[in-house]
Amino acid sequence: MEIVRDIPKLKETVKKVRAEGKSIGLVPTMGYLHEGHLSLLQAARSENDFLVMSIFVNPIQFGAGEDYEEYPRDLERDRELSLSDGCDLIFYPEVRDMYPEGYSTFVEVEGLTETLCGASRPGHFRGVTTVVLKLFNLVSPHRAYFGQKDAQQALVLKKMVEDLNVDVDLIIKPTVREPDCLAMSSRNKYLTPEQRKEAPLIYRGLEEARKLFREGERDAEQLKLKVKEIISGSEEALIDYVEIVETRGLQPVKEVRQECLLAAAVKFGSTRLIDNVMLEV
Ligand code: PAF
Repeated sequence: MEIVRDIPKLKETVKKVRAEGKSIGLVPTMGYLHEGHLSLLQAARSENDFLVMSIFVNPIQFGAGEDYEEYPRDLERDRELSLSDGCDLIFYPEVRDMYPEGYSTFVEVEGLTETLCGASRPGHFRGVTTVVLKLFNLVSPHRAYFGQKDAQQALVLKKMVEDLNVDVDLIIKPTVREPDCLAMSSRNKYLTPEQRKEAPLIYRGLEEARKLFREGERDAEQLKLKVKEIISGSEEALIDYVEIVETRGLQPVKEVRQECLLAAAVKFGSTRLIDNVMLEV
């Protein structure tokens, strides 16, 4: 397994792999791998001849005052973890190579990026779509793998691929959870022991609301209230949003009469966690 920092070297390698008629799978990450990333690597390994994982803490998807500087970074740990999943190449670029001086091109998906996390983190998805399109152009993967925990990100990226005719299959894999059901996230590392104990309330709230939904409740306000009530059981939790949106345009609904996403973002201290479940009619 090779670690490549240099962009021309990466392009040369993937060009050779493609010339040999091999398929390329890409797992884009910001590093500090957890089981969720490993499940993406495993899926990508089983479906492609050549597996590339990118590790890049992308500065342009972080807003002012967010955790860009503190975001956990540990290449050696990531290298060892990804070895067991048979990664062929880690692309680990430098910020100055991805965004050289004078860089001025950005990708913006309108509409889908204005609700949920897009409302609380202006500019976040513009940073995500820009870096992911750059990674697609650099790695030219046949398939790219993302997690359902970032449900809005997955839908925004699908729309980008469709609108810009990008020749890649996006594969979205289920959220991987800790034994107490907290969604795996590199940011869980920031939680204090007390916050860590209470963070599973997010999923518990979502699940309780889904139970109500399955029992017949269709009123979005009532379902959201249930989630908020349960999360408020934690003194440390500060709800950023609990929202129910339809899965095409991510617009909030009053009644759940079509497939919807029930999503929450909650802050524990300065750590912002997200999670979601689908409400299937
Ligand atoms: O989901 C992530 O880790 C990031 O948003 C991604 C897709 C790697 C882009 O930086």
